Amino acid sequence: MHLTSLQLTEFHENGFLLLPDLFSREEVAVLNQAKEEVFAQETNANVVEKKSGEVRTAMGLHLRNETFARLVRHPRLVKPAQQILSEDLYVQQVKINVKSAFDGEAWQWHYDFATHHADDGVAEPLALNLHVFLGDVSEFNGPLYFIKGSHKCGAAASHHDTTTTSYPLWCVDQNEVTELVEHGGLASATGAAGTGLIFGDVLVHGSPPNMSPWDRPIFSLILNAVSNKQTSFVRPEHKHHTDYTPVTPLADDCLLRQEVAQ
Ligand code: SIN
Ligand code: MN
Repeated sequence: MHLTSLQLTEFHENGFLLLPDLFSREEVAVLNQAKEEVFAQETNANVVEKKSGEVRTAMGLHLRNETFARLVRHPRLVKPAQQILSEDLYVQQVKINVKSAFDGEAWQWHYDFATHHADDGVAEPLALNLHVFLGDVSEFNGPLYFIKGSHKCGAAASHHDTTTTSYPLWCVDQNEVTELVEHGGLASATGAAGTGLIFGDVLVHGSPPNMSPWDRPIFSLILNAVSNKQTSFVRPEHKHHTDYTPVTPLADDCLLRQEVAQ
């Protein structure tokens, strides 16, 4: 799996890239089976919604389940990331944000590097966030919103919000959001189950609450350059993994042929 030069241009211009049909229906079914298994586990790596108590984000998945151990080394995720960064990469974070039907709450405006820098002591905004939609994501069930081109403005002013949702987050100030939106405009990341999505560490994004009757489960893998690894260790292992072994891609059929050792 290689990105075309057109796709690379789109990624660098907008700050994100959608990859429709990256995973098949059959592969998505395998991933959803694994999702049920990890959601049923009792662990503080399953963070619940403040109001409803439903799982909001389930983290550290590759250490809890063989299917996710394979997904973090899937060539359709790892190879494009290697192509963009041209460096050895390690698995920094592995999660599913489910944004459950009726109850899934917002993710405030932020960019991931604010947390990676302030909390984890990561020096440069190199990390890539690689998503796989585990269900259909539409305008109705809380898709990610991006401020197009906001990555070109660098790290925007942020504040630490520990009250709005159950997940503490470094959030972009509203006056900054207003300016960035005037400049670049908004886009929403929608697509059928199996769609892939890549975005960088300083692209400003968020997502609205889900008032629809449909869950919005999205798998997210953050890969960072080994040369840019964390220097601060205040967050738990499931929020920033400490195994800096470079990831190597598995075979393309690794999800469907789990009887074959990899
Ligand atoms: C995130 O930015 O990490 C979460 C966004 C979402 O799941 O909607
Ligand atoms: Mn984010």
